[in-house]
Amino acid sequence: MAILVAADFTPEEWAAWWPELLAALPGERLVRGRTSVPDVPDESIDVALVANPPADALRGLPGLRLVQSLWAGVDGLLADASLPISVPLARMVDPGMNEAMAQTALWAVLALHRGLFCYAAQQRRAEWRPQPQRRADEVNVAVLGLGQMGCATARRLADNGYRVTGWSTHAKTLNGITTHAGPASLGQVLVTAQIVVNLLPLTAATRGLLNRQTLAMMPRGAGLVNLARGAHVVEADLLEALDSGHLGHAVLDVFHTEPLPTDHPFWRHSKVSVLPHIAAQTDPRSAARSAAANVLALRERRPLENVVDRFRGY
Ligand code: NAP
Ligand code: GLV
Repeated sequence: MAILVAADFTPEEWAAWWPELLAALPGERLVRGRTSVPDVPDESIDVALVANPPADALRGLPGLRLVQSLWAGVDGLLADASLPISVPLARMVDPGMNEAMAQTALWAVLALHRGLFCYAAQQRRAEWRPQPQRRADEVNVAVLGLGQMGCATARRLADNGYRVTGWSTHAKTLNGITTHAGPASLGQVLVTAQIVVNLLPLTAATRGLLNRQTLAMMPRGAGLVNLARGAHVVEADLLEALDSGHLGHAVLDVFHTEPLPTDHPFWRHSKVSVLPHIAAQTDPRSAARSAAANVLALRERRPLENVVDRFRGY
């Protein structure tokens, strides 16, 4: 049998991934990419390792028994009509990515809390104007999503002294973190949050969750940090909230259209900081091992890890 690797990697990314995958999957036959779907079904492929695979990459593979995403979020894959419904889909879980996400979130929260975006703007105007300083324990931060990334982030923020509230589907107990669960509690979470960090998966229930109505629940001057998916935010509603002065600043790593079009208002907005989807990049060195562990589980007929629930969408 063989393993298909279907990804939209740049030549540099292929150069980083390929040796790591070969090393993590000794004795396996790896087939790189597919530029077109062959007329004759390919019976030899039983595993597909995918990262933003080209359209139809998973068609014509009757022997497929595992689709392993090299990305943590699987919203794009679930929307791909070539993803076979009966084959298990596993997502990437990598402690290295959780750590990177916690670092990005901590940087953004510190920058918002200590007014660093405001000082950067003042520097551009050669303006010397100290702002009042708050302690971390005077700042309420809400983390939306308490999964792999959200838990690591909530813990990192709490360890740095912030008052952290987390929100998830199911009730959770996390030391030093206030938690709420379910849609009815979202308003309660947002209404006190001076900073909101979004780490939800993109599903039917979370698409457009950060909209005019929910952004209005946040206190005046609050900051938004979106590190999950662009479609969680209604971009026009966010721009309106920033322009009206209701929200103070947004740190955005993800967008409806990526790369962010050069004429998009976010690029030049004084209250928006744009990152090019780098909050937690997949590190081939650890991610290849994580993907290989699931391939080994399949070969040894052990239960697969991190299987996506197709019904809930994450
Ligand atoms: P995860 O482990 O699946 O966690 C998802 C969390 O969201 C869970 O706590 C879940 O609640 C909660 N949740 C899901 N739907 C909800 C809803 N409708 N209402 C309230 N809570 C809900 O996912 P993860 O690994 O932390 O990753 C989260 C997302 O981060 C990914 O899906 C991806 O979009 C994004 N991401 C971005 C980057 C980047 O570089 N920007 C990198 C990696 C990932 P329960 O725990 O109760 O089920
Ligand atoms: C990146 O956004 C990922 O989902 O891994």
